[in-house]
Amino acid sequence: PTPLRLGIAGLGTVGIGTVKIVQHHAALLARRAGREIVVSAVSARNRTKNRDADISGYAWEDDPVALARREDVDVFVELMGGSNGPALAATKAAIETGKDVVTANKAMLAIHGQKLALAAEEHGRVIRFEAAVAGGIPVVKALTEGLAGNEIRRVMGVMNGTCNYILTRMESAGLPYAEVFEEARQLGYLEADPNLDVGGIDAGHKLSLLAAIAFGTKVAFDAVELEGIGRISIDDIRRAGDMGYKIKLLGVAQMTGRGLEQRMSPCLVPAESPLGQLQGGTNMVVLEGDSVGQIVLRGAGAGEGPTASAVMSDVIEIARGARISTFGQPAATLADPVPAKATAP
Ligand code: HSE
Repeated sequence: PTPLRLGIAGLGTVGIGTVKIVQHHAALLARRAGREIVVSAVSARNRTKNRDADISGYAWEDDPVALARREDVDVFVELMGGSNGPALAATKAAIETGKDVVTANKAMLAIHGQKLALAAEEHGRVIRFEAAVAGGIPVVKALTEGLAGNEIRRVMGVMNGTCNYILTRMESAGLPYAEVFEEARQLGYLEADPNLDVGGIDAGHKLSLLAAIAFGTKVAFDAVELEGIGRISIDDIRRAGDMGYKIKLLGVAQMTGRGLEQRMSPCLVPAESPLGQLQGGTNMVVLEGDSVGQIVLRGAGAGEGPTASAVMSDVIEIARGARISTFGQPAATLADPVPAKATAP
């Protein structure tokens, strides 16, 4: 079989992590995928930056759209980020030129996911996004494959490691929000726009993607009831503790009689529960299916290795020829998340 050729756009933490796996695990990947996986070409903002991996053997493109259109690229791996702009333009270009896409970009998918998936499917291609939700935790595959025989009752979880770090650190060190926020900034945990983290937006993006898969509905980020952690005080955390609870930025998505309910907000969870015990920058996703019951997945929701691990799982799936559609069912069959209003009798 011919090698599967990747074009990687974005050589930040996750892009370099992905290059490292391709380079260090060539034999293992070839065995598992049934064919070699190679990088043909890359693009990033800065060509000359010192990087933690040797990219000199790959063709270079300044423009990610040009990368996406290259004939020696089979899979476009989008690791730039940003909901619009170059990431979106390049992803569209990749689909139009018949490539599969692997992306970690939850912001882009939460807004354009449905349309991109439709376009991909029209071209007989897929967009896979395991890395976009909860980093290294294979929750997208848990829903689209492992639990595909279940009616999903509920999806919940802690999906932003930075917020969980801030909340657990406030508690353990007895420090106020503003001080721990500053600490998180210095540790490099915060997104370039910190409100994506502490405003619950990043976690809301992730929840809306999981809800679409779990309930077969269109991605409805606009319908997520969002509240961030900026107003949580150390007193709130202490009072919750006195009653046997922890405060977590918790996402919950479930189908109700009124349609899909999606909330991402600070919640009280029992201190002794798996969610209550979740420390630091970790993520946890709880899935409930009618046959399987409850499943708890826990792990690193960000970082080089974990996120690249998720990217590679999608690449291998594509190399194997698996055509699981982006949302676990054809994008055209995703329902409206809220039933149409009943007409007056
Ligand atoms: N800022 C995100 C987090 C990174 O803290 O979880 C992964 O999306």
